[in-house]
Amino acid sequence: MTTDVPRLDIPALLAALTLEEKAALLDGSDFWNSQAVERLGVPAVMLSDGPHGVRKQPEEGDHLGMLDSVEATCFPPAAGLASSWDVDLVNRVGEALGREARAERVSVLLGPGVNMKRSPLCGRNFEYYSEDPALAGELGAAWVNGLQSQGVGASVKHYAANNQETDRMTVSAEIDERTMREIYLPAFETVVRKARPWTVMSSYNKVNGTYVAESRELLTEVLRDDWGFDGLVVSDWGGAGRRPESVAAGLDLEMPSSSGAGTKLILDAVAAGTLSEADVDQAVTRVLTLVDRVRDSLPTGRTFDREAHHALAREAAAASTVLLKNEGGILPLDPNSGGTVAVIGEFARSPRYQGAGSSQVNPTNLESALDALRTALDGRREVVFAQGFEVESPDADPELVAEAVAAAAAADVAVVFLGLPASYESEGYDRSHMDLPAHQIDLLHAVADANPRVVVVLSNGSVVTVAPWQDRAQALLEGWLLGQAGGGAVADLLLGAANPSGRLAETIPVRYEDNPALGAFPGAFGTVRYGEGLLIGYRWYDARKLAVAYPFGHGLSYTSFEHSGLTATVVADGAEPRVEVSVTVTNTGERAGTETVQVYVTDPEASVYRPEQELRGFARVALEPGESKTVTVELGHRAFAYWHEAVRRWVVEGGVFGIRAGASSRDIRQETTVELAGDHVVLPLRDDSTAEQWLAHPEAGAWLRAALDVDGEGGGMAGMLFDPHAGQMVRAIPLERLARFPGFPVDHDQIADALKKFNAS
Ligand code: BGC
Repeated sequence: MTTDVPRLDIPALLAALTLEEKAALLDGSDFWNSQAVERLGVPAVMLSDGPHGVRKQPEEGDHLGMLDSVEATCFPPAAGLASSWDVDLVNRVGEALGREARAERVSVLLGPGVNMKRSPLCGRNFEYYSEDPALAGELGAAWVNGLQSQGVGASVKHYAANNQETDRMTVSAEIDERTMREIYLPAFETVVRKARPWTVMSSYNKVNGTYVAESRELLTEVLRDDWGFDGLVVSDWGGAGRRPESVAAGLDLEMPSSSGAGTKLILDAVAAGTLSEADVDQAVTRVLTLVDRVRDSLPTGRTFDREAHHALAREAAAASTVLLKNEGGILPLDPNSGGTVAVIGEFARSPRYQGAGSSQVNPTNLESALDALRTALDGRREVVFAQGFEVESPDADPELVAEAVAAAAAADVAVVFLGLPASYESEGYDRSHMDLPAHQIDLLHAVADANPRVVVVLSNGSVVTVAPWQDRAQALLEGWLLGQAGGGAVADLLLGAANPSGRLAETIPVRYEDNPALGAFPGAFGTVRYGEGLLIGYRWYDARKLAVAYPFGHGLSYTSFEHSGLTATVVADGAEPRVEVSVTVTNTGERAGTETVQVYVTDPEASVYRPEQELRGFARVALEPGESKTVTVELGHRAFAYWHEAVRRWVVEGGVFGIRAGASSRDIRQETTVELAGDHVVLPLRDDSTAEQWLAHPEAGAWLRAALDVDGEGGGMAGMLFDPHAGQMVRAIPLERLARFPGFPVDHDQIADALKKFNAS
């Protein structure tokens, strides 16, 4: 991208800056801007929320969504957008956000949020993509690529393991290493590797007792050394930790301004010799690199096309909606004929379109479903509205209920808009339960008693219980929070102007009590234990063979699809395996529609516990009626690997893997296998390694067999090692202990020598 703003000469600047100026550069200048160094021509750059719109505050700032911000397009928040499973769409939303940010001279947009949805009760789930790291990572990368193509930096957040709001600024998430690597880090890793974000935001919380802000392991060893991140780490607002320690750990920029406190702490630590000037220089280099990277966002006078962005928001909202059920094909409603449509529920008139907190956008426009339905039906079908309930009231209003029942009774169909009041879910606190307000459910029963032709449209940022009442609705549209154009999108879907294509990015469990984090979430006394390990979301429901209300990946269409011809071809084996999975999809219905083929991998022969199946790839395909297309998903090393805690790296265990392809995690249509050679893992031997581990070692095993004379007479203890019955028990004994037993043919000194020799090789 060309730009008029000159590039920074970073080495020259480093030489010219005083230590005081350098320390100041590591602090914000106010709520949203970095520091400028005017004498050297270093401009300040502005960082703003994010992620589903530009929340630029012209005057005073706050990070809690309380004060005003400029008008900007409010796209669907992540919970909705993720349900699109549409990498191209998310990329286009990212581009549009980039254009709006540039028009406002915002250089970094604070998103995307790729934390895992560990518990349905996390108050901020509306801002996160999924319970699955592969899906969150792919969508997050698409968003960052789109945004940064416009010269505006992303800030992937909240790194890492910030999966609850309770005690978010102090809680320690206690997570084992394998779970961290396989569940809580990969979405960040994918974004870093595939989209090279210019910034990452460190989270407020601790991981295993250390504040992320001060964790060299997370901010430098994993993020930079392992994944190759070459950008800047910014603190979450007010979460920079002990400043000298956080600079040394790899946290470059403290936001918002610490009013000089952070700068002084840094200077004092350098003077005392507890923080090196080299660490300061490195952080300053990263700040200057960011300023240089975002230079194209700095010129003023740019604009964006509000109408085009609103239209994109409408497209995104339609793609974000998931048709959960559609009995008897009640949807779509015929726009040209049929009786009165009763539209019931305050959400139809006053949409809940985004969540509360720092991501709150001031929309350029706001469509209600009620207005959009009236416009679309334009007198062809009568639309009658009944409010039904007061959104924030804990109680039913008998008059409103009676009015809704009367409207339903007199109508051909009742479209009932239910949802979570805004106060139920927000940044800063978690939900206490997963249910809709009881009076809304009572209303639904009353309406369905009056007219069984009921369609329910949900507005909720995180998953709600549907099992106890969903049989009262013939169709159920999960609308999440759909942004400013959600009303129009819902009308498009209800009337068939758009065909639903969303798929669940999170499981809808039957009841909250089925969730694996039950009891552990949100922890107590400053600690939350992730005892369920790898088994979050569908990994848990599958492992326990639990019934769910709607499975991960589920979503219906107004047409139908047939899957056929699954093939999985190993195109490369060895250290970097590549497997191509192809599926042919045919549109067997009468409308154009879009299917999402999901590819899950299983490892039935694993020597460690592995989840029943894991999403490793997906592909969307748009098809005209009768049309067929073949989609291909490529799987690489990581699709088959697990994190090996002993050698601390990813390992593919050679053998047979299952490849499942289908329309949801519980609608696997076809299955096949591939065989891979796998990685060669040699576990280093220790002085307490078991005989089994010694025998498994390629060289030490051969030495031990020879020393034990297993092919010769070697009876006694040595012979027992290979006894078909007792062998397993004996081989579990550390070799060094066996050597102490009377008559064992290898002694302690020989083992000590072997240990040195084979570990050195
Ligand atoms: C939130 C971040 C946000 C920041 C700035 C914090 O409270 O956790 O997501 O980007 O404030 O508003």
